[in-house]
Amino acid sequence: MPRIDMGSLLPSRGLFSIEDLSKDQILGILDRAEELCQSKTYPQSLVGKIVGLLFFQPSTRTRIGFHCAAQRLGGGVVELNEAKFQLGMSCAESIADTVRCVSAYCHLLVIRHPEVNEVKRAMEASAVPVIDGGAGTEHHPTQTLIDLFAIRRRLGRLDGLRIGMAGDLAGSRCAKDLARALQLFPLQELRLMTPPGRGLPESLLDGLKATRVDSSHNLRPGSVDVLYMAGCQPGESVDAVGEQARINLRLTPNLCEEMKTDAMILCPLPRVDEIDGGVDSVRQAAYFAQSAAGLFVRMAVMESCVGVDALHGARAKRKTPGAAQPAEVKRAKHSA
Ligand code: CP
Repeated sequence: MPRIDMGSLLPSRGLFSIEDLSKDQILGILDRAEELCQSKTYPQSLVGKIVGLLFFQPSTRTRIGFHCAAQRLGGGVVELNEAKFQLGMSCAESIADTVRCVSAYCHLLVIRHPEVNEVKRAMEASAVPVIDGGAGTEHHPTQTLIDLFAIRRRLGRLDGLRIGMAGDLAGSRCAKDLARALQLFPLQELRLMTPPGRGLPESLLDGLKATRVDSSHNLRPGSVDVLYMAGCQPGESVDAVGEQARINLRLTPNLCEEMKTDAMILCPLPRVDEIDGGVDSVRQAAYFAQSAAGLFVRMAVMESCVGVDALHGARAKRKTPGAAQPAEVKRAKHSA
């Protein structure tokens, strides 16, 4: 596999939406994640780097996934999570002020916030690259990279697929960023299965290169290659959609019998009730493997954000001990 210059893969401000990446950049990250996944030892490519995790909305996989990925690559991690934000911070302050200060201590931030504009403000205020770990109901680029990684690993390709997306797609940042990414890969079919009025925005559908797009309000998993169970987000989305619409879109072992044997079921997790527990043991269920492999995708994203060529990062670090300095310190030095 050819070496990739990871340092040139991501925009210097970080990653806000999957739209920030070209097709080549996406494939480069997937290739690097594959290398890391197959590697027997992890390169210590983040030694000397500190990753700040600022989660203003609950998270399990993204927060812990980034934490573990950074540690496995030798990096340090500091966390400010929702509970600390409420209980442990000196006082409530604007996200811009928080980020401006914390980014002076770190080399990279990962931020999740329920308001899209707050993530944008954080990126503007940060002295170091920011990875969006989930912005409102609009963006979740690393989840999309994980989705694409899972699809390519199992099916061997991203072009010419029949993809079904089910759930409250209007309220799902995972579904929307996946749809944006799919604009780069010609599809044979996109099948949208949603509660009434909860489909993808027309602007996203317009950009798709799909031979066929169809919609329904019930689950039709037959003949798809990938069934993406976006579900309903806990809280507002579950209440808004209602019980009957959720029942119509619930995946059961019986419905899985309609699926092709080589199809795959994905879900960004957490699930509410969109996938019956009995589905976990069917051969098409791939969502826990998808989540597990997310570790390698997050490693690859962080490496490219901090400009590390993974194979040479540790050597470069040995040559220039203490060279990596947060940008705010450099700015402060120059303005002193
Ligand atoms: N898929 C995902 O973003 O999960 P978490 O909310 O647990 O991070």
